[in-house]
Amino acid sequence: MMKDIAIIGAGGFGREVKMLIDQINLVNPQFNFLGFYDDGIEQGTLVNNHPVLGGVADINLASNDLGIVAAIGLPSLKKKLLEKITNPKISFPKLIHPGVIIGTDDVTIGEGTIICAGSIITVNIKIGAHVIFNLGCTVGHDTIIGDYSSFMPSVNVSGEVVIENEVYVGTGAKIINQLSIGTKTIVGAGAVVYKSLPANCTAVGIPAKPVKFND
Ligand SMILES: CC(C)(COP(=O)(O)OP(=O)(O)OC[C@H]1O[C@@H](n2cnc3c(N)ncnc32)[C@H](O)[C@@H]1OP(=O)(O)O)[C@@H](O)C(=O)NCCC(=O)NCCS
Repeated sequence: MMKDIAIIGAGGFGREVKMLIDQINLVNPQFNFLGFYDDGIEQGTLVNNHPVLGGVADINLASNDLGIVAAIGLPSLKKKLLEKITNPKISFPKLIHPGVIIGTDDVTIGEGTIICAGSIITVNIKIGAHVIFNLGCTVGHDTIIGDYSSFMPSVNVSGEVVIENEVYVGTGAKIINQLSIGTKTIVGAGAVVYKSLPANCTAVGIPAKPVKFND
């Protein structure tokens, strides 16, 4: 049976996640896409011919079973919006592009996690809930990734890395093996992380160094 699904966020990434749903359905038809929820766009507006169904609060009015996925890169906003959902009819399916390579040995992936085309996840890896891997990311062996973290296109995470919750990693960043990144830290595009990073900082450059600490 096809499962109703809607996307939070009708911006650029939201439209790309709709494409991801289409690609999954081509291989294994399973989702009936209803539209987007977005607090910044008027209800009824068409986005690529699909309606904005309302704001995030309206998700709590759904009376039928509905899958929701958050197409929001910024971890803090993603978490805040998802925490508004209290409706027991809502579930959070994983969306994994059919071409993604995922090891069959000891890999766990939490609910609501999105893995886009071109990504490779190897073995003995634990990925939390509502994580985003945008296009072409790689994750090496024995790595742990916390809830709500987001990885922009072409990020490489090496082996034995621990990434805490709500970490944002910018496009093309590379994270060397056997280190950790603390909660809510932001890694700039193109950074090379070769020493562990503390929580709540923004780190940029090669090698990545904290340039500010965030609240
Ligand atoms: C790291 C980042 C989040 C910082 O944004 P910010 O908090 O607004 O910080 P600022 O732009 O004030 O930058 C702070 C300093 O870091 C530098 N800096 C910012 N991003 C940098 C980067 N990626 N690499 C190197 N230096 C960078 C700035 O030049 C600035 O230096 P200065 O104080 O000497 O002028 C942002 O620049 C970034 O890289 N975002 C990733 C975007 C991305 O990957 N998008 C993908 C969409 S799919």
